[in-house]
Amino acid sequence: MKELIDLSNLPRHIAVIMDGNGRWAKKQGAARVFGHRNAIKAVREATEGCAELGVKYLTLYTFSTENWNRPKLEIDALMHLLVHTIRGEVPTLMENNVRLMAIGSIDTLPGDCRQELTEAIRLTENNNGLNLILALSYSGKWDIVEATKKLARQIQEGTLQPDQINDEVFGQALATEGIDEVDLMIRTGGDHRISNFMLWQLAYAELYIMNDVLWPDFRKPHLWEAILTYQNRERRFGKISEQLVK
Ligand code: IPE
Ligand code: IPE
Ligand code: MG
Repeated sequence: MKELIDLSNLPRHIAVIMDGNGRWAKKQGAARVFGHRNAIKAVREATEGCAELGVKYLTLYTFSTENWNRPKLEIDALMHLLVHTIRGEVPTLMENNVRLMAIGSIDTLPGDCRQELTEAIRLTENNNGLNLILALSYSGKWDIVEATKKLARQIQEGTLQPDQINDEVFGQALATEGIDEVDLMIRTGGDHRISNFMLWQLAYAELYIMNDVLWPDFRKPHLWEAILTYQNRERRFGKISEQLVK
């Protein structure tokens, strides 16, 4: 199936809502954390798959602002898992020429987690293949509010005039500064919602919801399938079909 993908029409930015870990575990009578632990293989598959093809950006919704409202036990387990996974994945990231980045309210993460993340980001900063962006303690509304504060400060300092704010200026104030907007958004676990993910950046993304796949079961062929579906969609951006150059 991979050979059917048109490499000249790849999504530049793929964003994934990795959902369904808890249900995956529950199905086999295990605790939710078991699902999170088994999600790492899927993260690796998605990352390697994107790197192999030449996708430029992959954003993974790893922990949302709202996820802080989960039971403490689950939050602690997730943070613990994060620390160990990031540490362990650096060699694989180097091998695949992947540069790690993070967006979100990173200050709110536990110290050891922040430290591992910063270190992995530093170690991979010269890689120039896929950019892997972890959305951690992230939400779309958080991003927009932070961008607004940044612009307000610039106005206060006199370096920006209110009338200068436009689509582009606002976009550059977001956590995804310099990163293309999302072309393809994949959600596993069957829920048809955005869950406060990249509200601005998803404006014209093609949505691909996987109804029958929970995140721990996600493998490269699922990624190929999602990209092939994307390539069969007509992205009109408000125009009519006849205006598009085929
Ligand atoms: C996604 O899986 C992982 C995170 C939100 C951290 P869930 O934990 O939401 O699993 P379900 O949706 O309850 O099955
Ligand atoms: C979205 O999944 C957040 C992440 C995948 C990190 P949730 O499981 O938190 O979303 P809701 O609560 O079903 O909307
Ligand atoms: Mg969920």
